[in-house]
Amino acid sequence: MNKTISVFAPATVSNIACGFDTFGFAIDGPGDVVKATIDMSFSGVKILKISGDDGRLPLDVNKNTAGIAVQAFLNKIGSRAGVILEIENKMPFASGLGSSAASAAAAVTAVNFLLEKPLKSMELLPFVIESETSIGGTAHADNAAPSLLGGFVLVRYLEPADVLNLPVPTGLYYAVVHPQVEINTSESRQALPGNIPLKTAIKHWANTAATVHALHTNNLEMLSNSLQDFVAEPVRSKSIPHYDQVKKSAIKSGALACNISGSGPSIFAFCDSFDKAKKVSEKMKSIYDDDEIACTVYYGKIRKNGAEIV
Ligand code: HSE
Repeated sequence: MNKTISVFAPATVSNIACGFDTFGFAIDGPGDVVKATIDMSFSGVKILKISGDDGRLPLDVNKNTAGIAVQAFLNKIGSRAGVILEIENKMPFASGLGSSAASAAAAVTAVNFLLEKPLKSMELLPFVIESETSIGGTAHADNAAPSLLGGFVLVRYLEPADVLNLPVPTGLYYAVVHPQVEINTSESRQALPGNIPLKTAIKHWANTAATVHALHTNNLEMLSNSLQDFVAEPVRSKSIPHYDQVKKSAIKSGALACNISGSGPSIFAFCDSFDKAKKVSEKMKSIYDDDEIACTVYYGKIRKNGAEIV
């Protein structure tokens, strides 16, 4: 009999202001679900169905992050198994919330379970990175790692993958607004400066280190004043409608910090209570409502678990 399992992998917020390609966290909100079936009547990967993507994601295994990740995983462990994937896309496309990483994380986790866990979760990360790199160009793991592993992570190295799980202060909540415009990550990476003045780099690594310290010491005030971005935000914010207004309104409504989620267009804020996160998300939404730009908001806690069976 064929074995089947479904795995959910969460949406993620990456960069987190000063941690370009380094910081990421999983959100207690939307994500992707991948149903995987082992079928020994063939060898390799087939994508049977994708739902919730308005027909935009490819069924071609070599062009779909879930298919690429699973094929790379099977090659690595030397398995001749046949895998059928059904992807339920429950997150917005090109939103800055890590949708391509989430479906790859869910797929590879599901197949690892079905094949009786030859690898640990952390060891699955290279396949998710590889899949994202094949479709997006530049390797980065700040969506892949938190979607796979959960929590707030620091990506130290890609090869070999070295990811640290950082502590999350108990009173920390996020708010995210996703205005329905699309931003292509690889184009948005190309727009970034190739060189950074030393003075700017010094401010960045000081703030990155202070962010880690703030998380370890539960210091929300230090977290608030460390989350600044002098590199990507000045360039990328120009492509996000009403970015400055949204950020000002979030801070005015009590957010500790507000910045771009990944390459955008989603914007995240950190708050010190659930009620503030709710209020901040409502304020951010009202700016898009006023301009009749459709948007979705999410708020809550950083999600502890990464990809898991549902
Ligand atoms: N760190 C990546 C970038 C995340 O900002 O390009 C993409 O979602």
